Amino acid sequence: MSNILPATSEDIKRAADIIREGGLVAFPTETVYGLGADALNPHAVARVFEVKNRPHFDPMIVHINSLACIEQLCLKVDERARRLMERFWPGPLTLVLPKSQVVPDIVTAGLPTVAVRMPSHPVALELIKEAGTPIAAPSANLFGHLSPTSAEHVREQVGSKVDLILDGGKCPVGVESTVISLTEKEALLLRPGGLSLEDTERVIGKVKIPKSNPKRPQSPGQLLRHYSPKTPLRLLTEEIVFENGKRIGFLAFTPPEETLSYEMVEVLSPRGDLREAAANLFSCLHRLDKAGLDIIYAEPVSEGGLGRAIMDRLCRASREYCQRGE
Ligand code: TXA
Ligand code: MG
Repeated sequence: MSNILPATSEDIKRAADIIREGGLVAFPTETVYGLGADALNPHAVARVFEVKNRPHFDPMIVHINSLACIEQLCLKVDERARRLMERFWPGPLTLVLPKSQVVPDIVTAGLPTVAVRMPSHPVALELIKEAGTPIAAPSANLFGHLSPTSAEHVREQVGSKVDLILDGGKCPVGVESTVISLTEKEALLLRPGGLSLEDTERVIGKVKIPKSNPKRPQSPGQLLRHYSPKTPLRLLTEEIVFENGKRIGFLAFTPPEETLSYEMVEVLSPRGDLREAAANLFSCLHRLDKAGLDIIYAEPVSEGGLGRAIMDRLCRASREYCQRGE
């Protein structure tokens, strides 16, 4: 029997019971689907790591539905954090702040900080409210693979291992939240995402982009190869070499002039809009990955606004950046 249920009030209540009892529920957020467990229950959180095959050094985001929870989870919430929360919550922004002892170490992978976010998706907000506890949730995919932006994507990757999948349709933002660390004097961008860097800088001034050091990532999740389809993916920075018999897929930003050379073409945004492109990114990649292609070429997009998050995901997905066979 399928464990996907439409996210009606009744089924959200059922999902909340599962969370309170230590089970796992996949649920929609405005960014991507999350794989949720009671953030204050270390055993439930341990199951999330197992189901995802996620290394224990990679901490999780704690999802909340009201600002009151912040005081419970974080030791110090400074002025910058307050301004960002006021302006962008609920929404696709995660803040890393000093953690309180209420947050189990397994959630933060032993770090003295915790990542918190208030999602704007009504199903996520209602689920957290009904559960009466903050929900720890990574994206509901297997570690290193493509993030899910539909309930069906979740089912394909982890369906048999979760207690329930709440189906809330397609995620409107389509890329993960922007992660900003506020634990030091300089605000740091740990992951570009669904809220643009420019928007955050308008509220708190300069946000530093750390130089990536693959051996010592600032955020444990910043692995070079991540968000990857199974099919090799290359960024289209030069001419494609068409080899006889090779099945080539093309991930285009806007409709390409020439399509005959490709087995399959997916267009991120028919009208050339970065927001639309972000919303379609993972579903286009999921479709290309299922088509039995030999290689996928991806057209780069400009790095302004949501383009930064799109390019970050494409670079990580591409084999050129692959240093380890994950
Ligand atoms: O949009 C999202 O953020 C989605 C939805 C479900 O909310 N969640 C998500 O979670 O993308 P996940 O686990 O796939 O990515 C969380 C990122 C990882 O790169 C992790 O290393 C980083 O946040 N992170 C979590 N806690 C951290 C901490 N205390 N310090 C630094 N980085 C942290
Ligand atoms: Mg993820």
